[in-house]
Amino acid sequence: MPGLKIQSATRPKETLGFVEEAEIILAWQIPDEVLKRAKRLKWFSSIGAGNEDLVKKPYLPKNVILTKATVYGEMMAEYVFAYLLYFSRYVGKHLKDQKKRVWDQVRPKRLRGKVLGVLGLGSVGKEIAKRGKQFGMNVLGVKRNPELVENVDQVFGPEGLRKMIPLVDYLINVLPFTPETYHILGEKELTLLKEGAFLFSIGRGKTMDEKALKKVLQIKKIQAVLDVFEKEPLPSKSKLWGLKNVIITPHVSGINLPEEISEEFVINYKRWAKGEPLINLVDREKGY
Ligand code: OXD
Repeated sequence: MPGLKIQSATRPKETLGFVEEAEIILAWQIPDEVLKRAKRLKWFSSIGAGNEDLVKKPYLPKNVILTKATVYGEMMAEYVFAYLLYFSRYVGKHLKDQKKRVWDQVRPKRLRGKVLGVLGLGSVGKEIAKRGKQFGMNVLGVKRNPELVENVDQVFGPEGLRKMIPLVDYLINVLPFTPETYHILGEKELTLLKEGAFLFSIGRGKTMDEKALKKVLQIKKIQAVLDVFEKEPLPSKSKLWGLKNVIITPHVSGINLPEEISEEFVINYKRWAKGEPLINLVDREKGY
């Protein structure tokens, strides 16, 4: 890309001397002290999918274009189906049996015909829905503006959330964090999950009331797979760590791989260089 001068930094102080000149910043979790100095900034290309902090940054004025990364869907869908298959094919049990040299032909469950409910049908939710369809699942979804979405059999608006939850075998929460989605999954909603249902939280921890979740997990036969939390890292004293029906991972369902991030950046940079409108814009009003 002739004409593009690239400088990089891994620590705030390494940005001294070039961030002042930068017209484009490609970054994540940038400290205010750095952003404040970027007086010539025109485009902030975030490598994150959820940009609830960036939309609020005082040093990122509205005239600076803000774009997001949309590359995480495939990887996060892999995460979801890793656990769906782990449970339906009793992987943990067979590994334990093997250690004890036990031959126990437990009958596997099928994903075909099961109901997958996806909360949030953006770039991540759509990839999960697509995999669900490929496995022959019945896919339901919740979207702020309900409209037809490929691979989703029925799309509900936010008011349909409580209608959808009791129908699903697997509820996958990939909602972005906004004032409207804060604790959108509370005690009422979580109690609506049917016995044996699975709950995945892989978007933003604050969309789920963690206190309510702990309560429901202790009284109801459901299984949770949690990658995001209200406070991260999840404090070691959190009760969630010790619950039998919980799997905890440390916010790794989607991680930024340089080759994927840069490929997506280059597509937008080519548009930028030609003066064309950019894609993957963050809507600052909506917050994602
Ligand atoms: C993201 C994240 O939003 O890492 O990209 O959570």
